[in-house]
Amino acid sequence: MDPIIDLDFIDNRTPEQAAACDTQVTKETNTGKTRKLYIESYGCAMNFSDSEIVSSIMFEQGFDTTADIAQADLVFLNTCSIREKAEQTVRNRLGQINYYKKKKPEMMIGILGCMAERLKKSLLEEEKIVDMVVGPDAYRDLPNLINEVDGGQKAVNVLLSREETYADINPIRLNSNGVSAFISIMRGCDNMCSFCVVPFTRGRERSRDAHSIVREAEALVAQGYKEVTLLGQNVDSYKWESADGTEKVNFAQLLEMVALLSPDLRVRFSTSHPKDITDEVLHTMKKYDNICKYIHLPAQSGNSRVLELMNRTYDRAWYINRVDAIRSILGEDCGISSDMIAGFCTETEEEHQDTLSLMDYVQYDYSYMFFYSERPGTLAARKLEDDIPLEVKKRRLAEIIEKQRETSLARNKRDVGKVHKVLVEGPSKKSDEQLSGRNDQNKVVIFDRKHYRKGDYVNVLVHDCSVGTLFGEAVD
Ligand code: SAH
Ligand code: SF4
Ligand code: F3S
Repeated sequence: MDPIIDLDFIDNRTPEQAAACDTQVTKETNTGKTRKLYIESYGCAMNFSDSEIVSSIMFEQGFDTTADIAQADLVFLNTCSIREKAEQTVRNRLGQINYYKKKKPEMMIGILGCMAERLKKSLLEEEKIVDMVVGPDAYRDLPNLINEVDGGQKAVNVLLSREETYADINPIRLNSNGVSAFISIMRGCDNMCSFCVVPFTRGRERSRDAHSIVREAEALVAQGYKEVTLLGQNVDSYKWESADGTEKVNFAQLLEMVALLSPDLRVRFSTSHPKDITDEVLHTMKKYDNICKYIHLPAQSGNSRVLELMNRTYDRAWYINRVDAIRSILGEDCGISSDMIAGFCTETEEEHQDTLSLMDYVQYDYSYMFFYSERPGTLAARKLEDDIPLEVKKRRLAEIIEKQRETSLARNKRDVGKVHKVLVEGPSKKSDEQLSGRNDQNKVVIFDRKHYRKGDYVNVLVHDCSVGTLFGEAVD
């Protein structure tokens, strides 16, 4: 395999954490509809959440979901463009899907999501087996697009919207274990980080009606869900105003509205932006036991000059100030994770060392770590030279990964000997006799099953740990 592809995405997630974010094959609805949809999702949680909206729209059109691609009348790949490798993965997958299409020529193939938005109709020319290209704001148009393809044409809709939030669509929970679910609270992104393709693929930022979010969470509670994760590219800039202007809700207030639904419902959120996270949010987290004490706060780099080139609009001192605020308001135990990019344009060895020293300072519980991958059309691609040799990027990334392994282990060792409240997600990967769940800080905890079941909250005394997992036993 090409080493560029091989090393492009490395992280220190546990298999359980990785499984929540990697490609997922839909579960079956099997309600006796005439046609079947198979959908695969790539990229971030927003895409997984969108696939649930898409499945709901297609269900209304007479499509059940299937987990068996060979059974499908319609195959959707909901795609990601964040790094070159993400797009290459989809192209490779299309090659495999061709095998099924040859056996069943009437099978329709659609590309949804960020790659559809980035490449638009040129995807139809590049990938001949694709019938349909649909951007993230055009899913309501899917019924018409399917009709066009049924009529023998190819179909494209990549219009971005300033308003679309799919607020009224009731997602079909494909990616859920029945315990935790994602709720999209906003779409798009108005931050122009110079490396990032998301503003181009997802369009302008817009916040969803606060009451529709609360209703969705309420419905999940009624169905027995125990955890919701509020999703946005920058949740701290959530801002909704009622049409008559009498009601205004910011992110701290939204968090409170959801937390108040039930003390048994855990509330998580992602992603926080260092420039926007406020003390008000931190105080709201402190006020409610059911808001998890865990913050994903991507730094990207520990050096102020690089951060400026990245157009992150904060510097190292500002970032450290936010971490100090987290530690002083929520305490040392609050989990913090990051995203890091190694080898951004013009980054020197000293500047790379600043990233490592920031990691030492913050003591992240874990990080998602990448080397820089230039994306066409972004500010960096237009203005900066991608001048760090691949070998150097890889070596810096390896150093960042090694540093993260050290801090993950150190942070996990602090958890040994303490009792953690764990929400059980299901049997552990290795044994049916053991259960796997997460503590408040989003760490995976494994313990003997005893009489406990999925969805239970269990107090677990942790007696051992690895880089990615805590091990313990239930205490009553
Ligand atoms: N909205 C989130 C990030 C979403 S993209 C935020 O601002 O934190 C997820 C991560 O992918 C980013 O945090 C960044 O670390 C990484 N990423 C984005 N573009 C990249 C690129 N061109 N090359 C390498 N990594 C990239
Ligand atoms: Fe991309 Fe920056 Fe927006 Fe995150 S905040 S999605 S990194 S532009
Ligand atoms: Fe990828 Fe689009 Fe998410 S580019 S990371 S799927 S917003």
